[in-house]
Amino acid sequence: MENIKSYVSQHKDRFINELIELLKIPSVSADSAFSQDVLNTADAVKDALSKAGCEVVEICETPGYPIVYGEKMIDPNLPTVLVYGHYDVQPADPIELWDSPPFDPVIKTTDKHPDGAIFARGACDDKGQMYMHVKALEYMTSQGELPCNVKFMVEGEEEIGSSSLAWFVERNQEKLSNNVILISDTGMISNTQPSITTGLRGLSYVEVEVTGPNRDLHSGLYGGAVANPINILSKMIASLHDENNHITIPGFYDAVEELSLEERAEMAKAPFSLEAYKNALDIDEEYGEKGYTTNERNSIRPTLDVNGIWGGYTGEGAKTVIASKAYAKISMRLVPHQESEKITALFTKHFESIAPKSVKVKVTPHHGGEGYVTPIDNIGYKAANKAYTETFGVPAIPQRSGGSIPIVALFEKELKSKTILMGFGLDSDAIHSPNEHFGIFNYLKGIETIPLFYKYFVEMSK
Ligand code: BES
Ligand code: MN
Ligand code: MN
Repeated sequence: MENIKSYVSQHKDRFINELIELLKIPSVSADSAFSQDVLNTADAVKDALSKAGCEVVEICETPGYPIVYGEKMIDPNLPTVLVYGHYDVQPADPIELWDSPPFDPVIKTTDKHPDGAIFARGACDDKGQMYMHVKALEYMTSQGELPCNVKFMVEGEEEIGSSSLAWFVERNQEKLSNNVILISDTGMISNTQPSITTGLRGLSYVEVEVTGPNRDLHSGLYGGAVANPINILSKMIASLHDENNHITIPGFYDAVEELSLEERAEMAKAPFSLEAYKNALDIDEEYGEKGYTTNERNSIRPTLDVNGIWGGYTGEGAKTVIASKAYAKISMRLVPHQESEKITALFTKHFESIAPKSVKVKVTPHHGGEGYVTPIDNIGYKAANKAYTETFGVPAIPQRSGGSIPIVALFEKELKSKTILMGFGLDSDAIHSPNEHFGIFNYLKGIETIPLFYKYFVEMSK
């Protein structure tokens, strides 16, 4: 029986080329112009699962984009691993900031990826990371190394809130029953220091609209005498943080869990250089809530950020105008115990209450979801750690991430199982940004590490 290391080195060119083909399909779920491409990607994933050894493969229809399901059951008495990933990607824009076309993958080296990285939208988030599992499955089935049952569930709406997946999970508890859920859709500290993500933040996302006069006005004839919705919106947004960068919405922090000093000291042991962080982002000083470190601010603390703001004239030259309306998209990242719907309600009430009578405001909720924390004393975590220790030569560090995968909390609620977040991306891989990439080292290391997770999980389950 071939071992995984030699299998990967023997097949790596094919593994890379197959991923490149998948990355060429622009599966942008947010933009209906790409709907046929999203569907084609689902078909491509289905074929890949079937070639990798799944005995059952299905395109499961939902009210939205389909879910690709695959399974290989070898013995009902053995444990079952459920792999989750997403085949949809974020929009590529702003396209002009890409050094090469987003759906025309190229391999280039970077400081962090001396062995090369594949540049394309979705390379890391999540096609590359999802496909590691498909190739790991190929290895295990073709080499007689699959030690348990495996199910795959790959969705096409993660980047737009996973509402069809929630619909699907609620209706298919039996089909999706498992002993552990395995996901690679997060990151790790560095290529020499693996980490396992033990927490994700929740999300509450709203859009606000501020309306002043019933039409756009000449800013000379009316300026100074009527409320300018853009001025008002800016003031309202500015008031959402105080001088310590604390969020001012009443009740916002009520459910927030304060970590003990011991837990914070433990977190601070993870390798981190503030200088390198600032250099990588070209900023002279970090910023954030008083009393917390950078790593705490972006993982265990909730936030409020404007993601986009618009209104009035933004074209070439100058136009003198007071716009009738101003808009913003605002996201709040939540920590476990803060409930997304409650936070959206608190935001709405507060935002309406701070609006002056001279304008009308409308708050429209977008998608949201709950945060997640997982303990490290379960066999899933231990098996993952053992796998990383073997392939990287050092144990993984548990780390809470600031990102969100809202479906993970729902998995726990509906399927009653824990999720292990074995991510292989780096923060510098530019997910959601121009020039997204995924290291070849990371891709192949992932394929090498995943079968070991299966092996140790099954051993530890006995
Ligand atoms: N894979 C990311 C989330 C992520 C990335 C978590 C890195 C931890 C580390 C996922 O695809 C994503 O982008 N999630 C969205 C939320 C979703 C509801 C649109 C996010 O975090 O903004
Ligand atoms: Mn993702
Ligand atoms: Mn994403």
